[in-house]
Amino acid sequence: MNKKHTVASIKASKNKTVLSMITAYDALFAKLFDPIVDMILVGDSLNMTFYGKNDTLSATLEQMIYHTQAVCNGAKNSFIICDMPFGTYTTKEEALENCIKVYKETTADAVKIEGGAEKAEIIKHLTDNAIAVMGHIGLMPQYVRFEGGYKVKGKEEKEIEKLICDAKAVEDAGAFCLVIEGVKPVAAQEVAKSLHIPVIGIGAGAGVDGQVLVWSDMLGFFEDFKPKFVKRYLNGAELVKNAVKKYDEEVKSGSFPNSEHSY
Ligand code: KIV
Repeated sequence: MNKKHTVASIKASKNKTVLSMITAYDALFAKLFDPIVDMILVGDSLNMTFYGKNDTLSATLEQMIYHTQAVCNGAKNSFIICDMPFGTYTTKEEALENCIKVYKETTADAVKIEGGAEKAEIIKHLTDNAIAVMGHIGLMPQYVRFEGGYKVKGKEEKEIEKLICDAKAVEDAGAFCLVIEGVKPVAAQEVAKSLHIPVIGIGAGAGVDGQVLVWSDMLGFFEDFKPKFVKRYLNGAELVKNAVKKYDEEVKSGSFPNSEHSY
């Protein structure tokens, strides 16, 4: 088991070690991932994968706190980040109040906030008040209705310049780490090269300082669609369905339970 990360060790990993992050929403899976990965993100993607909603926007602070508590119960060694849900950090006062609630009601090590330069003042207010902030730029799922879909970024020079400008603003505001999502690999690499803090990619190629994937995508439990950037390391849904089918057959045939599974 690796030693638990801190904000300082994550920052110090830049250009030294590559970081792995995975999402988790409950204690059961968090406990499985804990000895292996560097960071666990309680992502608001849980609104889609766990709650079956179409996007992340209706996730509430109460839900995020509930799932973060569960993950903190299961993962004692990983650095845990709670994703701040849509509408909980629209002003610096609101953001601080809600992040303090997360810190008081969970043992999360940090929070994650979507947005670039336009969120810099809010991030600065949080970091000035001892909240560790992970930024998130590029394709930002909380902007899906505003932008009219999930749009890959960094295709043109102007977009790359904006990404670098956003990333620098988030870093200057005191963020210790930055997620970059749905961005052309060349652009993501440029962003990573421009910053002193680690840049964690998702759908952003290999030229960054680490990777994050949503657990149910990478383990093949989420079957509705598979984004191009997802690699399935397990056919989870297939394995579960086959196992449950076998259980159903054995219950109906009377071969389960047998003497081995009886008192
Ligand atoms: O909510 C989430 O799981 C995320 C990751 C996709 C980075 O924000």
